[in-house]
Amino acid sequence: MSALKSVGRDVLPHDLFSGKTVFVTGGGSGINLGIARSFAELGASIGMCGRSQERLDAAAAGLRDFGAKVSATSADVRVPEQLQSAMNVSRDALGDIDILVCGAAGNFLVQGENLSFNGFKTVIDIDLVGSFNASRIAFEQLKRTRGSIIFITAPMAHMAHAYQAHVGPAKAGVEMLMKNLALEWGPYGIRSNSIIPGFIEDTEGMRRISSEADSRNFIQSIPLRRLGMTQEIGQAAAFLSSPLAAYITGTSLWVDGGQALSGSGFFNNNSAAFLASNPRA
Ligand code: HXC
Ligand code: NAP
Repeated sequence: MSALKSVGRDVLPHDLFSGKTVFVTGGGSGINLGIARSFAELGASIGMCGRSQERLDAAAAGLRDFGAKVSATSADVRVPEQLQSAMNVSRDALGDIDILVCGAAGNFLVQGENLSFNGFKTVIDIDLVGSFNASRIAFEQLKRTRGSIIFITAPMAHMAHAYQAHVGPAKAGVEMLMKNLALEWGPYGIRSNSIIPGFIEDTEGMRRISSEADSRNFIQSIPLRRLGMTQEIGQAAAFLSSPLAAYITGTSLWVDGGQALSGSGFFNNNSAAFLASNPRA
């Protein structure tokens, strides 16, 4: 792990989230696991769900190496009953949720005219409906803890990106859900914010939009001239969940090295080439 990757633990108190429980949907891999790891390094207990129990078990083992207590139960965020049971198991093992991270999502590149009705609905269901389901089910626990929610969205929520006619509306919906809940649940002491990751290295999200060689070319469109790291999204989540952010709610935090300033042109060109050379089997 590079020095940059461990900076959260270097600059924040190691017990910042001691006694706190963080529940991460889709926590078994990628950015969401990076978020779970950041909280685990800072003393939190971690509840999480995803569809694959095997993936969750592997992720949980890694988090326990940081000394975290972990509850990892498979659940599909589209199925409220499964999510309810995973959160019940987590509550019984770790106590009420203090911080909910809604990170489960699905993506693939596809031309709008080739996107099936079910393909569109599937991504809306995972990203948007799944985020509502998680928030709604966690509400009673968050109300007791005066906790907070972090939604993981994407640049597609704010700018049109080619071949993302499903993801754009799904993530834009999540951004608006974040604001509605900030408005309605603020009086309970519950804060609601989102993180908008840019292009993050070594993730399934990147593998689905570009080849590894092309992903290195993405840096041309990023003012800070490098891809982001999962740990850096974790650090942003730690900040938003810390007392430093006690008066921040209803806000979207871009963590993208400034990429949004360049627009989506690079993505659009690269995606056209990627899709042409990687037609769906
Ligand atoms: C066109 C596709 C497709 C593809 C699936 N579909 N893949 N259409 N191109 N490549 C269609 C299917 O044909 C089907 O429609 C419908 O989508 C549902 O597919 P299923 O495989 O039955 O769905 P399911 O098993 O629920 O899986 C969901 C999934 C899958 C989204 C399709 O890819 C998945 O599990 N993804 C999770 C991991 C992931 O995507 N991680 C990246 C997140 S990154 P029909 O009509 O045939 O029934 C992200 C934003 C990143 O979210 C931003 C990048 C910078
Ligand atoms: P990832 O590793 O595929 O993360 C998605 C996670 O969600 C997986 O662990 C997956 O596990 C879980 N998941 C998917 N469908 C689910 C469902 N129906 N129910 C429960 N869990 C489900 O991809 P990632 O790239 O790290 O993306 C993580 C988050 O960051 C997503 O919200 C994504 O939109 C966002 N993001 C990523 C990037 C990027 O550069 N990668 C950029 C912007 C935003 P299972 O398959 O086991 O269910």
